Amino acid sequence: LRRREILKMAGIATAGALLAHRVPAAASSAPEGNVLSGVQKSPLSTDQTPNSWNDITTYNNYYEFGTSKDDPHRNARNFKARPWQVAVNGECDKPGSYHYDDLVSPHVLEERIYRLRCVEAWSMVIPWVGIPLASMIRQFEPNSSAKFVHFKTLHDPSRMPGQRRRILAWPYEEGLTIEEAMHPLTLIAVGLYGRELPNQNGAPMRLVVPWKYGFKSIKAIAEISFTRKRPRGSWERSIPREYGFYANVNPQVPHPRWSQARERRIGAGVFESKKPTLMFNGYADLVASLYAGLDLRKNY
Ligand code: MTE
Repeated sequence: LRRREILKMAGIATAGALLAHRVPAAASSAPEGNVLSGVQKSPLSTDQTPNSWNDITTYNNYYEFGTSKDDPHRNARNFKARPWQVAVNGECDKPGSYHYDDLVSPHVLEERIYRLRCVEAWSMVIPWVGIPLASMIRQFEPNSSAKFVHFKTLHDPSRMPGQRRRILAWPYEEGLTIEEAMHPLTLIAVGLYGRELPNQNGAPMRLVVPWKYGFKSIKAIAEISFTRKRPRGSWERSIPREYGFYANVNPQVPHPRWSQARERRIGAGVFESKKPTLMFNGYADLVASLYAGLDLRKNY
């Protein structure tokens, strides 16, 4: 304080001084949260170097807790992610209200190191811990009319204060075709770096679909519905010309307001150039067949 007073008196309480003041918060962000046991490695992991804990947990998109990248880690700190219930309904034989533990404990936890590509043209590499969505879906016994899976986040402005402002159609919603949902790459993440998922990353459970833009990977899932009709996500509802249902990472189809050809890796040095974006975020050999015959320009 004394130093700042002196600087202030000297009229040099500049951005540099503020930045110095903020350093301890960032430096103290060592991995935290309960360690998850019995986590197995997955052959589906990338061998790229993961981003740091600090990058992954302080640079977030989670509009329920603010619209700046560094809002969620501060504003979601006291969010209570336990106990947690998930409502399951629609075209399935085992609908109901499921407790978090009943959804997760029957399954082996896997570490999946995946690339994440945000529609805003930045990317990260994230060591998730989770279970294949397909394994969880089998618990609910979807019937032959289940063509799509519709996910919703909690809708409770008292717990998610960002929902007090109508910046998006709340609750946050997203959807997949049943084939996409059952694909072996599609994950329900419950952890990060071997520990329970931090609130700002979508605790207690969020979707991870690594070949699609990050907005499809809905956080804090509170409802799963099996539907005949294609669900519309919050972004598609809000700005349909810019955000579609498929949202497959595609360097050849620009966003109406910017190119998707290249991406900035979070944590890269300031002099490092942007990297070319890969079709389906580099997962084309595993997922391209899902879209055979589909016009990917129209179905963005
Ligand atoms: N889920 C909810 N409920 N609310 C959100 O605002 N943002 C999405 C997605 N899931 C979002 C969400 C976007 S745009 C991205 S890029 C990813 O979460 C970011 O995930 P991360 O913060 O864990 O990197």
